[in-house]
Amino acid sequence: MRRKVLPKKKKSAIIKRKRFLYNGRGMKMNTYIGIDLGTSGTKLLLVAADGRILAENTQTYPVFYPQSGWSEQNPEDWYSAALRGMEELLKGQDRDAVKGISFGGQMHGLVALDKEDNVIRPAILWNDGRTEKQTGYLNESVGKDKLSAYTGNIAFAGFTAPKILWMKENEPQNFARIAKIMLPKDYLAYRLSGAFVTDYSDASGMLLLDVKGRRWSKEMCKICAIDETLLPSLYESYEIVGTLKKEIAAPLGLSENVKIAAGAGDNAAAAVGTGVVGEGGCNISLGTSGTLFVSSEKYKEDKVNALHSFCHADGGWHLMGCILSAASCNTWWSDKILQTNDYAREQAGLEEKFGKNDVYFLPYLMGERSPHNDVNARGAFIGMRADTTRGEMTLAVLEGVTFALRDCLEAAKKNGADVKSTRLCGGGAKSPLWRKIVASVMNMPVEIPQTEQGPAFGAAMLAMVGCGEYKTVKEAADTIVRVKQTVLPDNAVAVRYARRYAHFTKLYPALKGVF
Ligand code: XUL
Repeated sequence: MRRKVLPKKKKSAIIKRKRFLYNGRGMKMNTYIGIDLGTSGTKLLLVAADGRILAENTQTYPVFYPQSGWSEQNPEDWYSAALRGMEELLKGQDRDAVKGISFGGQMHGLVALDKEDNVIRPAILWNDGRTEKQTGYLNESVGKDKLSAYTGNIAFAGFTAPKILWMKENEPQNFARIAKIMLPKDYLAYRLSGAFVTDYSDASGMLLLDVKGRRWSKEMCKICAIDETLLPSLYESYEIVGTLKKEIAAPLGLSENVKIAAGAGDNAAAAVGTGVVGEGGCNISLGTSGTLFVSSEKYKEDKVNALHSFCHADGGWHLMGCILSAASCNTWWSDKILQTNDYAREQAGLEEKFGKNDVYFLPYLMGERSPHNDVNARGAFIGMRADTTRGEMTLAVLEGVTFALRDCLEAAKKNGADVKSTRLCGGGAKSPLWRKIVASVMNMPVEIPQTEQGPAFGAAMLAMVGCGEYKTVKEAADTIVRVKQTVLPDNAVAVRYARRYAHFTKLYPALKGVF
């Protein structure tokens, strides 16, 4: 049959026609924007109320490493990425349907504004290791017991409180100018809506929040020499904190009634986006960082000082292990060292070496958080022979990151977590090979949700709850999160990996003195 060829003009008119969506009752469906303010870039999703992903966009920006172990970004880069990203995301979409926006954000970053709202210095990021001295002061002089009593956590170098102390000691003029302290995603909310707010999940990582009581800790504010008025107001992640400023809404073609929900730290947002809410769910994220997140309806403190005890975005809590370099190890190894980003080609055929590889890799490229809490830890390849191949080293990188996450799983088990399966998200979850490694190293089924972009999807879901589309985060998760694949562990491989993991656990203690 011959196809009718449309004249050129009409064809483009068809392409440009907006996509209207309708629900089962013939009513126009609302849509929501989820913004994941990540370290390598900002990822945005436009999601319909029924969970369909209508559009996605990614905007990248640089990380600056002004000294070894330091890492910084310009908040202005985040803001322009979010604006550019929304403009791109909404092309060809029905802008009237957009009802809400929310965020998942890289956690712990210190964003300090003066009284004229100028950013005082570049943001100090979650994987910055400059605060060894201040972390030591908090853990040793103030004491881990007191910190745990005030906040539910001990100090880790990436947390915000040690950074505030670092600024006080090293940049007193900057410290004196501070009028507002906020976290990365809160900076976006502030610029977009004017609301000076944060949410409990992200605030947990500041070491200034009484995580159990869901309020700022007066004791910690005193220890950090800051007034509570410098800190944002606290909200649940799904609560509406404001609307889009008129001057931002208009050029984007959005209504100024578009609501902004507080959002969450990226890991809590990812857990929402992968359906890990309520009691006992587990999510592993393979992003720039790697995390193992166990959700809980009740507050729990970590007994082994390896994990974080934080508020969840569903109104509950979670325990979380965080490794500072995860998919970023693969990016470093492939892009920088092998000089290729054809990951699929590099990973082809490596499955036959599962559990038989002689090479080990320690993934501590930026020091390590969980479980070692050591800013001086470094990466290492161990066990090469004269005939070791490029493929074996690539595999060692993926295995090493996964073993480090197994450390987090073991710490979670010591805290009584009974994890029987996990969801997986983040850029690394796109690799079919890595999914299998995770299943066999953790020795449990790995469920892959419909999108690996957990934080952005979770953020859109939080906006949906705030706008009344769903009554609770749990209802939203039960209704719209779908698992597209389950990867089962291979029993024989799992046995071999258990042996290799036992060897892996001996390497950091042996090398600690060298780092
Ligand atoms: C969590 C953490 C990282 C960042 C990365 O404690 O530091 O996962 O949130 O974005």
